[in-house]
Amino acid sequence: MSICRFLKWVVLLLVMFPSLFDPSLSHFDSAKKKQMREKVRKMFYHAYENYMTHAFPHDELKPLTRSFTDSLSELGNLKLEHLPQNYNGTALTLIESLSSLVILGNYTEFERAVLWLSENLSFDVDARVNLFEGNIRVLGGLVSAHILATDSKNRLVQGSYKNQLLDLAEDLGQRFLPAFDTPTGLPYAWINLKYGVMKNETTETSTSGCGSLILEMGALSRLTGDPKYESASLRALRKLWSMRSSLNLLGTTLDVETGEWIEHSSGIGAGVDSFYEYLFKAHILFGKEDFWRMFHSAYLAVQKYFRHGPWYHEADMRTGKATYWQLTSLQAFWPGLQVLVGDIEAANSSHREFVHVWKKFGVLPERYLLDHQMLHPTEKYYPLRPELAESTFYLYQATEDPWYIEVGEAIVDSLNLYTKVEGGFASIRDVTTMQTEDHQHSFFLAETCKYLYLLFDDSFLVDRNYIFTTEGHPLPVLSAWHERLPEIYIPSNWTYVKKEKPKRASAMSLQVCPALSLNSRHGEQLVESACHIPDARNDHKCFSDEECGVDSTNCRRRSCSLGGYCGLWLII
Ligand SMILES: *[C@@H]1O[C@H](CO)[C@@H](O)[C@H](O)[C@H]1NC(C)=O
Ligand SMILES: *[C@@H]1O[C@H](CO)[C@@H](O)[C@H](O)[C@H]1NC(C)=O
Ligand SMILES: *[C@@H]1O[C@H](CO)[C@@H](O)[C@H](O)[C@H]1NC(C)=O
Ligand SMILES: *[C@@H]1O[C@H](CO)[C@@H](O)[C@H](O)[C@H]1NC(C)=O
Ligand SMILES: *[C@@H]1O[C@H](CO)[C@@H](O)[C@H](O)[C@H]1NC(C)=O
Ligand SMILES: *[C@@H]1O[C@H](CO)[C@@H](O)[C@H](O)[C@H]1NC(C)=O
Repeated sequence: MSICRFLKWVVLLLVMFPSLFDPSLSHFDSAKKKQMREKVRKMFYHAYENYMTHAFPHDELKPLTRSFTDSLSELGNLKLEHLPQNYNGTALTLIESLSSLVILGNYTEFERAVLWLSENLSFDVDARVNLFEGNIRVLGGLVSAHILATDSKNRLVQGSYKNQLLDLAEDLGQRFLPAFDTPTGLPYAWINLKYGVMKNETTETSTSGCGSLILEMGALSRLTGDPKYESASLRALRKLWSMRSSLNLLGTTLDVETGEWIEHSSGIGAGVDSFYEYLFKAHILFGKEDFWRMFHSAYLAVQKYFRHGPWYHEADMRTGKATYWQLTSLQAFWPGLQVLVGDIEAANSSHREFVHVWKKFGVLPERYLLDHQMLHPTEKYYPLRPELAESTFYLYQATEDPWYIEVGEAIVDSLNLYTKVEGGFASIRDVTTMQTEDHQHSFFLAETCKYLYLLFDDSFLVDRNYIFTTEGHPLPVLSAWHERLPEIYIPSNWTYVKKEKPKRASAMSLQVCPALSLNSRHGEQLVESACHIPDARNDHKCFSDEECGVDSTNCRRRSCSLGGYCGLWLII
C-alpha cells in the first residue's frame, strides 16, 4: 500500500485542491464514509453469521435454502461423483473471513475461529480440489491469517496462538506439491488432497492456474524456511513465461505434460488475470528484478495488443490479432493493478467504463459483447464478484477523489437492493431479471466486503505495508523477504519523486514505457510510449497507418488493419 500512498502524493495534490478550499465538504465526506463503513460492516456480518449458522463448517452458504455446499470439492465435478464420505467441508468461508475479521477489528471472533480450525480442520481427505482455488482461498487465507495472528499490532490474546494456522498451511502446501511433478514443472489443475494427482487426471490447465501460486507458496516458504514451495511455483512461473509468443503474449489454456498451448487467444480476464497480477505483486513482495522484467514485458504487450481505448479485448498470442470483443466482469481488477503500477490515467478511464456498465445493469454482468453492445446470451450472471469494488478502493487510495466514494456507495446500495436475502447474500443468475441464485461465494467475505470496507475506512493500512493477494488476503511487505531492490522500482524516496514531476502520474511512463525518440523516414522526431498508444478517434479505431505510430519495442511502424486496429501484422 505504500505505493498507493506514494501516488497520493505524486498524483493528485491537484485533484484534492477543491476540497482543501471547502472544509465543510471534507467534513461531509468523513461523515459519509463512516456511515458507509457501518453499512458494509452490517453486510459482512449478515453474510458471516448466516454462514456460521446454516453452513459452517461446510464450504459455502446457500442463502436461499439456508443450507450449504462443499464447493471446494464439488467444483469442476458436474456430476458430483466421488465426493468424500460424510464430508464436513473445509470451513472455507470461515478461512476466507479470517483476514476480514481482523480488518473489521473483531479479534475475539478471529481467535475463536483459529481455535476451531486448529482443533478440527484436517486436509487428510479423499477430495479432489482445484489447485488454483485451493491455493488462493485456503492456503492464502491461512498464511495471511497466520501473519495477522503473530502481528503484535493486532490486539490478540497473547499466548493463545501457537502457529496452528501455519501448521495447517504447511500441511496443505505439502499436499499441493505432487501436482508439480510433471515433465514441464507446470502443475496439474486438480489434486486429490489425500492421494495426489488422480489417474487419468486432465492435463489441461490455465495460465492463471500455473502463474498465480507464487505469492502464497512463496510466503509459505519464507515463513517455514523450507524453499520447496517457492521453488515449485517459481519453476512453473518461469516455464510459463518461456512459453510466451514473440509478441510477449500468452494463451489461456495449456497442457502441463507437453507444455503446449491449447487456447491461443487470451486477454486480461478469466484464465489469465491473476498471472499478470502476481508477476507485479511478486516483485513487490519478494523484490526480485526478474519478476519486474517479466511484468514489464507482459504489461507492455497487454497495453499494446489488448487495449482499445478504455476497453480490453482478447487477441491471438501468435498474431496479436483481436479475437473476442468482450468485456468480462473479472477484467475490472485491471485498473486496480494499474494503480499499483502507477498508471492512474489509464486506470481511471477503464474503471469509468466498468462503472458505466455496472450502472446500466445494476451490477456487473459476467460477459458483455462490446462489438454488439449487448449481453452475452448465457453469461448474464453476477456472482457477487469483488473486482469493481477492488479497483474503486485502489483508485480512491491513489487519488482521494470523492467520486470513488460515490461509486462505492452505488455498489453497496445495489448489493443490498438486489442480492441481500434473509439468509445471506445471493448471487444473481440473470442481470436482466435480477433473479437470484442459491450461492454465497466465499470471496464475497474475503474480497467484496473487505475492499468496500477499506474504501471507507483504511485505518488497517495506517503504518503498515501490505499487498493483497488475488483473493484479498493481506501479506506484509517485509524487507527480510526482499532481495535488494533497485531504488527506482520501489519509490521509497517519495520526497524526491514528489518534487520531480507531479504531473507525471505513471511510474510506468518512466520505467516500463520509456518515451522513445527516433528518426522516421521523413526525419521528424517520433515519440511514443507504448502505454499510451494514441487513440485515434472516439471509437478508438484507426483509419490510416499514420495514426498507429511506432512500435516502441522494435521501432517498426505499426499499421492500421482493415478492421481499424493498430498493430504489427505478422503473417504466420
Ligand atoms: C462429519 O461430522 C459428523 C458429525 O459431527 C461426524 O459424525 C463425521 O464423522 C464427520 N465426517 C468426517 C469425514 O470426519
Ligand atoms: C464479532 O463477531 C461475532 C460473530 O459474528 C459477533 O457476535 C460480535 O458482535 C462481533 N464483535 C464485534 C466487536 O464486532
Ligand atoms: C471442534 O469440533 C467439535 C465438534 O463440532 C466441537 O465440539 C469443538 O468445540 C471444536 N473445537 C473448538 C476449539 O471449537
Ligand atoms: C483411464 O482412461 C482409460 C481410457 O479412457 C480407461 O480405460 C481407464 O479405465 C481409465 N482409468 C481410470 C482409473 O479411470
Ligand atoms: C478521471 O477521469 C475523469 C473524467 O474523465 C476526470 O474528470 C478525472 O480528473 C480523472 N481522474 C484522474 C485521477 O485521472
Ligand atoms: C532522495 O533523493 C534525493 C535525490 O537523489 C536525495 O538528495 C535525497 O537525499 C534522498 N532522500 C533520502 C531520504 O534518501
